[in-house]
Amino acid sequence: MALLSLLANGEKAVDVIKTSLDTGLLEALEPGGRSLKELSECIGAVPHRLSKFMECLESLGLCSHRAVDDDIASTLYWPAAGLREGVIDVFGEKSIEKDRDAYPWRWLHGRLQEVLTGELSIPGEEFSWPPVGTDQFANFERSMAAGLGPVIEAFRIHRSALWGAGARLLDVGGGDGTLAGQLLTDDPLLSADVFNLENARPLVEEFKKSNGYGERLGFVAGDFLREDLPTGYQVISFVRVLHDWPMAISRLLLAKARSALPNGGRVVICEEFRTERRLARQFFWSYFLMGVDGCHSRLYGVDHYQKMLMEAGFSDIEVLPGPFEIVTAVK
Ligand SMILES: C[S@@+](CC[C@H](N)C(=O)[O-])C[C@H]1O[C@@H](n2cnc3c(N)ncnc32)[C@H](O)[C@@H]1O
Repeated sequence: MALLSLLANGEKAVDVIKTSLDTGLLEALEPGGRSLKELSECIGAVPHRLSKFMECLESLGLCSHRAVDDDIASTLYWPAAGLREGVIDVFGEKSIEKDRDAYPWRWLHGRLQEVLTGELSIPGEEFSWPPVGTDQFANFERSMAAGLGPVIEAFRIHRSALWGAGARLLDVGGGDGTLAGQLLTDDPLLSADVFNLENARPLVEEFKKSNGYGERLGFVAGDFLREDLPTGYQVISFVRVLHDWPMAISRLLLAKARSALPNGGRVVICEEFRTERRLARQFFWSYFLMGVDGCHSRLYGVDHYQKMLMEAGFSDIEVLPGPFEIVTAVK
């Protein structure tokens, strides 16, 4: 219920958080155990005003304090773990939330009753799923690429468990090629093709040209709803793809991957598997996609995919830990 009080004061809370970043307070607070006097001197604040500011931060769960004596200036403060990094991530210049804000979510705002009854949707020319037109496609793939950090890190950790030297990988629904490109950079013996709708071709070609991947990075145009997946790959990956579709389609895609893989070939699934924190981070898309019926976006736990892989006939099903887990199995 405390959350509801904070939400009712949401704009003010954001004001406090942004100010704490902009004034350098978060940096000053970072070592922990800093007194109100020290913090005030660091940012040029009046101590008794900063003390109330700190109460705001503390009510948001972003810091804690310990009183030392009667003088509030000696009160000591500690930041929540990873506070400054988290604030930069969510509110900084390169924030994913900033990018998301450019999507036409305002079509829905204040009109959710009509959205829920099916009377109001995001107009197709504003956003469709899959995206249509060059601009929609390019904008969407650009924001996807911006959120690939944890995925790239997860692949980096587990690369050697996922494929051997000289493997060929097919990244299904592979966006503009950013992930495939990063995997090629990390493993000079790998080659990779992006499988995506024809609209993605110029994006992948452009990415390939500007990063000099040459023949190691390829593009295969196709619609996985209508066509089989191409053969000739030891690894087929679905990164942030399966959760956008009804379960029957995810099952179909895994069956297609199984048909396309050779015996011993590997399927790799990586996405925001459901946790409380990731669901919170997904809030924007849960809200926005209420108005986009073509996209079924939903976060699933790793167990959901373990079961699907088993039902699809894969073996050696494993969950590899990381910033995002990787669920993988062998044909
Ligand atoms: C949520 S994005 C994920 C992109 C990328 N894998 C990533 O994680 O950044 C889903 C991807 O699936 C592609 N896609 C959607 N429908 C498709 C279809 N019917 N056939 C092939 N690709 C499709 C989209 O173009 C997009 O690249």
